[in-house]
Amino acid sequence: MIETRILKPTDATLYEAAATLAAGALVAFPTETVYGLGGDATSDTAVAKIFEAKARPSFNPLISHVPDLDAAFALGNFNKRARAAAEVFWPGPMTLVVQRRENCPISLLASAGLDTIAIRVPAHPLAAELLRTVDRPIAAPSANPSGRVSPTTAEHVLAGLAGKVSIILDGGPCSVGLESTVLDLSGEAPTILRPGAVTAEMLEPLLGPVAAAGASAKIAAPGMLESHYAPALPVRLNAETAEEGELFLGFGEASGPDGAETLSAAGDLTEAAARLFSLLRALDRPGAIGIAVAPIPETGLGVAINDRLRRAAAPRA
Ligand code: TXA
Ligand code: MG
Repeated sequence: MIETRILKPTDATLYEAAATLAAGALVAFPTETVYGLGGDATSDTAVAKIFEAKARPSFNPLISHVPDLDAAFALGNFNKRARAAAEVFWPGPMTLVVQRRENCPISLLASAGLDTIAIRVPAHPLAAELLRTVDRPIAAPSANPSGRVSPTTAEHVLAGLAGKVSIILDGGPCSVGLESTVLDLSGEAPTILRPGAVTAEMLEPLLGPVAAAGASAKIAAPGMLESHYAPALPVRLNAETAEEGELFLGFGEASGPDGAETLSAAGDLTEAAARLFSLLRALDRPGAIGIAVAPIPETGLGVAINDRLRRAAAPRA
């Protein structure tokens, strides 16, 4: 066990966080999507600590975070499409999978031995400042025990990883609330391996047809294991109302019984995405027998919300 400290961001704590990362220890930090569990992506030891802290299967590769496009271009081979996507959507809630450059310094453990690499330039000002200060790629999966609900506040990180991470930089709640879109541009057909806030509709004008990964995604993005983002309680989808003993999570007009929580009373998908993980955690309490969730439209950001909900509801291993 190591001592875990939650620090408010100041020049001094940012510098301390960067020095901690450079020394090979782990620092959790906010991005606009979710909190990441960061470690030096070029250090096998630091990357091994990430897998251990999360109890994450080591065949599931990590995203390397960098402060700007040039730092990204130094790690991977960006073809024309990858450059275009990077220029339009970075910094932002999108991860690109590209071919690894020959001299790429990223630990092979971080990319699980694949010849591709996942890279992201986050937009959150604290993440950007931390990455500029530490001046090396930072591997960062979501800062939660593997398979559980991703964290959107510093307190969520503490609840899952106390004693396993040195510093948690507290940047308040994440604005997007769902993990980044993972877009594979390493092959011929652009493919969304994980839906997120950058949607197929947003990408297609730039890239042409974008495929959504189906069953084969399990091989391409090993992280997309069936049961994931799961609270301890069972989750039931497309529920019109709560059954005896269930807690209800509403959306729009499907507001459930009196006093039930809602993802967005106004039926706003952006608000629903930002609140999803917090509410799944809040409803995950002893005494209830399950969480019933109202239907969410399968459009825009709803695709990513439904993806996470289906995995939260999937049969547990
Ligand atoms: O929003 C996010 O993406 C957050 C923040 C912290 O940046 N990070 C995150 O990381 O969600 P993680 O490790 O929980 O998810 C990374 C996803 C996994 O599904 C993994 O399998 C996939 O990216 N991935 C990583 N490298 C890959 C590669 N070379 N090829 C295909 N998929 C890859
Ligand atoms: Mg994750």
